[in-house]
Amino acid sequence: MTPATDAPAAPASSAGPVPAPAAPGTAPDRGGPAPAPSRDPVPASVPRPSRVAVIVGSNREGRFGPVVADWLLGHLGDRADLVADVVDTADTRLPTALSHSPSPEVAAELAKVTPKLADAEAFVVLTPEYNHSFPAALKALVDWHYAEWRAKPVAFVSYGGVSGGLRAVEQLRQVFAELHAVTVRDSVSFHNAGASFDELGRHRDPAAADAAAKVMLDRLVWWALALRDAKSVRPYEG
Ligand SMILES: Cc1cc2nc3c(=O)[nH]c(=O)nc-3n(C[C@H](O)[C@H](O)[C@H](O)COP(=O)(O)O)c2cc1C
Repeated sequence: MTPATDAPAAPASSAGPVPAPAAPGTAPDRGGPAPAPSRDPVPASVPRPSRVAVIVGSNREGRFGPVVADWLLGHLGDRADLVADVVDTADTRLPTALSHSPSPEVAAELAKVTPKLADAEAFVVLTPEYNHSFPAALKALVDWHYAEWRAKPVAFVSYGGVSGGLRAVEQLRQVFAELHAVTVRDSVSFHNAGASFDELGRHRDPAAADAAAKVMLDRLVWWALALRDAKSVRPYEG
């Protein structure tokens, strides 16, 4: 992974333009007319990496979720355009009873996750399917927040039995639309997930999932950069 920084990408040289060396076979400059300007294209500046929060939606005892999370983090680690942080619903105890004035205990739980969500420019939500929907812990995390999701892209990695968690994802798209988030069309889903990974957490036949992850993350980056640029010139009013 590449560390995030708010500093713009460093220019190729900070010491001013460097005269190009004479091309092989040409005479050195002896004070004649100035050479024609280079026709080399100006390299496009590389945007800083987007900060993505990976949300682990299952907090069930004996859960399979960390296997899927490690698989995704392996992909994120290979990318220079994303820097990942993890928000694990198992690491916080958010009640389902919402409050405008949370108790000190709940405020302490929120303090574990809210800054990470606020700091993220994009999300990948990992969700299993429970009874044709997504886990309650994930919904609690979503509902305790509002502005943290707004005008940001959300991608999904799902897993489960025969459905691969796809029903959970379709329902989450409706949830995130209400929060002014933009869900990414392309997702990754693991059908019969438990059997798809070996005991070391390696996918047994990774080609299709790896390809799907690349497409999903490419789209997520596109949205993250597009929304970063848009918000820099026009604050989102929603
Ligand atoms: C309460 C419960 C309900 C489930 N319902 C479904 C379901 O509706 N469809 C499905 O494909 N798998 C279902 N499963 C299987 C889970 O998606 C699968 O076990 C997954 O690995 C659970 O994720 P976790 O281990 O990270 O919690 C269910 C599992 C549990 C525990």
